[in-house]
Amino acid sequence: MVRILGGLVGLFFAGMLLLSFLWGGVAFVSAPPAPTAESEFHEHPRQVAWSFNGPFGHYDKTQLQRGFQVYTEVCSACHSLHQVAFRSLADLGYNEAEIKAIAKARQVPDVDPKTGEATTRPGTPADRFPLVYPNDVAARAANNNAVPPDLSLIAKSRHDGPNYVHSLLTGFQAQPAELLKKFPDAKTPEGLHYNPYFANLNLAMAPPLTAEGQVTYGEGQPKPTVDQMAQDVSAFLMWAAEPKMEARKSTGVAVLIFLLFATVLAYLSYQNIWADKKH
Ligand code: HEC
Repeated sequence: MVRILGGLVGLFFAGMLLLSFLWGGVAFVSAPPAPTAESEFHEHPRQVAWSFNGPFGHYDKTQLQRGFQVYTEVCSACHSLHQVAFRSLADLGYNEAEIKAIAKARQVPDVDPKTGEATTRPGTPADRFPLVYPNDVAARAANNNAVPPDLSLIAKSRHDGPNYVHSLLTGFQAQPAELLKKFPDAKTPEGLHYNPYFANLNLAMAPPLTAEGQVTYGEGQPKPTVDQMAQDVSAFLMWAAEPKMEARKSTGVAVLIFLLFATVLAYLSYQNIWADKKH
């Protein structure tokens, strides 16, 4: 009896689930969600042929150094990189003296040993990149009521991170006339900037990379076009978000080779063990 009752209750729940699923399906087809400016004009990031793509991908150190230069000279005015320690810059090929100089050029927070009051001192390789604003209120006040996010993990926290950052930096444009015709209410508000790669199409960051040669690259480096600078800083932010990516990929390849070898071994021992048995 209990079994039958239990079965009936289960059947009831399963039936309701199926019913509501079908209901939702019918509603979606008969009254589809109204199109919005975001649903029609948001674009997926353009794909860049990064040196770190694919299972054997690796970072291009000179590109990372250029990206670090773009970050330092342009982005660091507003964006912190607070999860990254100066000593990690050794990955980019800087030596100890260079890292010490990079750290020393930045003021990091500290406490006065005598009075206990908050103060600052020049950084050391063990310090992390300091914050740009003391708090979010100050950040908002300086940026049209938007907080510039910390960029340490941005390349991992956004879908298709490095491509996204590159597309975002090079994607600022005038709002398409077609959009305004279709969605007159979706005009970019005062102080925001139209960018089809940003989720809601309008962001508070003004285009940070606007002119070729905004950053001067060293001898033998590619021309600092807006696209090149955007690629370089995106690659640098990918490194910041996943400095151990190369190790992860090479471990993955080694594991696959080992598993392949173990499979062959297992198959051969299977053959060997059953060799004298009739099937
Ligand atoms: C003048 C200040 C300023 C500068 C310089 C600046 N940004 Fe921004 N950035 C902002 C603000 C403000 C936001 C927040 C925008 C919003 O939420 O609408 C932002 C947002 C972003 C975002 C996040 C978008 C998202 O998906 O949330 C990325 C990525 C970014 N900036 C990258 C950069 C890079 C790379 C540079 C240097 C080339 C740079 N920014 C230079 C102010 C700045």
